[in-house]
This record gives sequence, C-alpha cells and structure tokens, in this order.
Amino acid sequence: MVKICCIGAGYVGGPTMAVIALKCPSIEVAVVDISVSRIAAWNSDQLPIYEPGLEDVVKQCRGKNLFFSTDVEKHVFEADIVFVSVNTPTKTRGLGAGKAADLTYWESAARMIADVSKSDKIVVEKSTVPVKTAEAIEKILTHNGKGIKFQILSNPEFLAEGTAIQDLFNPDRVLIGGRETPAGQKAIQALKDVYAQWVPEDRILTTNLWSAELSKLAANAFLAQRISSVNAMSALCEATGANVKQVSFAVGTDSRIGPKFLNASVGFGGSCFQKDILNLVYICECNGLPEVAEYWKQVIKINDYQKGRFVNRVVASMFNTVANKKVAILGFAFKKDTGDTRETPAIDVCKGLLGDKARLSIYDPQVTEEQIQRDLTMNKFDWDHPIHLQPMSPSTVKQVSVVWDAYAATKDAHALCILTEWDEFKTLDYQKIFDNMQKPAFVFDGRNIVDVEKLREIGFIVYSIGKPLDPWLKDMPAVA
Ligand code: NAI
Repeated sequence: MVKICCIGAGYVGGPTMAVIALKCPSIEVAVVDISVSRIAAWNSDQLPIYEPGLEDVVKQCRGKNLFFSTDVEKHVFEADIVFVSVNTPTKTRGLGAGKAADLTYWESAARMIADVSKSDKIVVEKSTVPVKTAEAIEKILTHNGKGIKFQILSNPEFLAEGTAIQDLFNPDRVLIGGRETPAGQKAIQALKDVYAQWVPEDRILTTNLWSAELSKLAANAFLAQRISSVNAMSALCEATGANVKQVSFAVGTDSRIGPKFLNASVGFGGSCFQKDILNLVYICECNGLPEVAEYWKQVIKINDYQKGRFVNRVVASMFNTVANKKVAILGFAFKKDTGDTRETPAIDVCKGLLGDKARLSIYDPQVTEEQIQRDLTMNKFDWDHPIHLQPMSPSTVKQVSVVWDAYAATKDAHALCILTEWDEFKTLDYQKIFDNMQKPAFVFDGRNIVDVEKLREIGFIVYSIGKPLDPWLKDMPAVA
C-alpha cells in the first residue's frame, strides 16, 4: 500500500489530503502537524476550518485511510511520498523583510525529513514557495549522509477557499514539476498516478521544477491584478458617473478577457495574494528586474488604496467624523463561505474607522469574537505562523463588540458597512434595520450586493463601490 504523509494540517493540507484519501482508497494518508490543538480539532466533530463539503469527505475516510496525528516523525518515516504544506509567511525581519518568503518552517520540515528517513522518498512542495526553493530543499535532503535518495517535486495547490472541495474534485489543472532526469520523471509519474485516479490525464500538466514553482506565483499575481484593475476602474467610475458593474460586464464579455474575477470590491484579502505578490516582487528585485517588480507592486498599492478610499468615504460622508458613532460591520471573513480572516480587508477598514474613534459592532456568520480581537491587535504578517507560535493579543479593543446577528449589529448604529459578500446580507429586512438605526442612516456596500435603489427608497444614504454616487456623497469628496 502506498503511504502518503502531509506535513501541515492547514487550509491546504487538510482538504487536499482528505480528497486524496477519498479518491484513492488504496492509499493510506496521514496528515501531521506540530499544532496539538489543530490535530485534535481534525479528529473531532468540530473541524478546525470551515469549508463547504469538507466535513462529509473527512467523515467518510477518517479512521479508514485518513489519519490526523502529531506524531510527525513516525508518519514521515513510513511514507513513500511526503507532501509539505507548512506556512510560508512574509519575512518580518532581516534580509528581504516585508517581502521575501520566510522559509523557516519549510527548512525545519526538510531537516526533519532528512533526519528520520531510512528509505528513498518523494518530497512534494505543496506550499507556495519562491522559485528555486526546490534547489535549497534538495541540498538539505541530499546532504543527509545516509545515501538515501530524495526526489523533489513541485505540486502547487490552486484551490480557492470557500470552494476548496469542488476545486479539488474537479481541478482546472494539476501541475507537477520535477527534475528532467530519469529519476525525476519517475517521481513525476508516481505522483501523476495518484491524481489520475480522479483527474483526467489532459488536466495533469508536467513541467520542470522552476516553471511549476513560478506558475503558482504568476497565477496568483494575475488573479489579484484583475481585482486591482477593476478596483482602479471603480474609482474612475465614481468620478465620472459610470457604473462599474456595467463596465466590468461589458469588458468581461470579450472572450479574450472573460467574465470571472471582475467584481469591484473593498479589496482582495486571503492568505495568499499579497504574500505571493510580495514574494514575486522580491524575486524580481533579486534578479535585477526593478521595472517588473514595480509593475507587480502596483497591484498591492491599488488594493491598499481601495481599502483606504472606502474608509475615507465612510468618514467623509458622516460629516467628517465617526468619533463615538456606532458603525455596524457586516462580514469580517475575507470572502463568503469561509471563516478565514487572514489579510481580510475588514482588518484595515476596521482599523481605519477605529483610528477615527468609531465604535464598531461586528457580525460575521463564521468568525469568532476571539479571532476578530486577535486580528485587530496583531502586527502585520504575524498571523501567518503556526497557531501556537502566534503572539497572544495583549489586550482587547474596547471600542469593538462582536454580536451574532446583523440586526443586533445595526441597532442604533449610524452606518452599516458590508465587508463580506455573505448571501444572507442580500436578504436582510433592510426596512427593519433602517427603522432601528440613527438618522441619517448610511449603508456602505463594500461588495456591491445590495439593491441600491430599494435601499434609497427606504431612506438610506447608500454608497456602493464604483456605482453612481448618492447626491449626498457628491458634495463630500473623499480623497484617499
Ligand atoms: P496554514 O497556516 O493553515 O497551515 C500550515 C500548517 O503547517 C499549520 O497548521 C502549522 O502548524 C503547520 N506547520 C508549520 N510548520 C510545521 C512543521 N515543521 N511540522 C509540522 N507542521 C508544521 O496554511 P495554509 O493556508 O494551509 O497554507 C500552506 C501553504 O499553502 C502556504 O505556503 C500557502 O501559501 C499555500 N497555499 C494556500 C492556499 C489557501 O487557500 N490557503 C491555496 C494555495 C496554496
């Protein structure tokens, strides 16, 4: 029986391995992690991450051919194929701080693999890593002095949170990069055989190592670039009276461009886009390509601009001050159908409003109060470390309360801001909300999900990103 071990039981390791176990009953899959609480959660009824369909998959395989364990060494020792899906945060100190990927966790995983292995293994990069990481990993593994042979493969993950299980069941492509030697090609074939049990062969792409590593960074940069492009347009739409929904629809019907990923919003978030672009920027700089670095940096700058612009709109519309005013925040996760808050635009928007002394009442169907307080007090990039190594919040933000219902959040509020596109926010009883708010009552829709005309009829002053401005807002320019 082929044995797979995955180091890192996070958003990627957990779902990908659960799907491999489901689709390959003849393979034994162990997912291991240094975080005791995370493994305990994977073994419980309350999984550590929320992802539609995940629970069902885990329940079908757990205890049969899918195991979650903290015994990292044992499972690595036994495995034929070792996936490494550990955190690759942005460095906060030293060379490349604020840009380069911090490979501390990867390196320690590689050293551990070298230490405990007694047989040849295929080691698979599942984490997103800088180009040429495989070369460094190879050096660590091959200098083990034990004569054991390791083949390194790059198999970046393209799943999107919120649709991870569907993406894994039916991926656009699986990408496998390896050495162009006979041993490298044999390793590629072994991993291909795993995926081929449910993915059509023509969707399994094989490349050299560096192309696979770079393709993941490039794909995320292209995706984020589309969002920043439409967000840049949204500012121009507001200035000119165009409607960004109409513009993006017209643009997206061009088959060369396509309609996906063209929604204007308060900005992109998630654990990957910013981190991976910063990493790409750093690699460009290191390779003497400052113009290319500058081009990609702009994608992040526009994203920061969009979040700042939203905060300024809120404050400027409300007579240039939100001090002591209650502002309801609907949605904190970085997108719907996930409880993940990593780099969510809600963090910067909330911090911006708190900077202007607002009182915030936050509701998100999947995010806990503890997580929100942690996010609002943590330093930039600190979130991307194993949970037990993250700094504890030294204090809570007193001006923030977290409630479990949109109606409680908006009661007596001066304004409500929609920061995540949860479906339930589309069907709220906005008349009831309006009746219970202070007047004038403001709606700031950072996801373009409400019916602007209907809300204006109720009596709200409405701002919806990139849409023609409410007459109220026209006289209150918000310069970012
Ligand atoms: P995560 O933070 O949810 O999970 C990483 C896990 O690795 C943590 O549970 C941590 O405790 C564990 N870990 C760290 N060092 C370890 C070690 N030495 N031994 C054992 N366990 C260790 O991170 P996530 O989101 O799963 O991301 C992992 C990688 O996959 C990152 O490189 C990320 O960029 C990439 N990725 C993430 C995607 C996403 O949607 N979250 C999508 C595609 C790629």
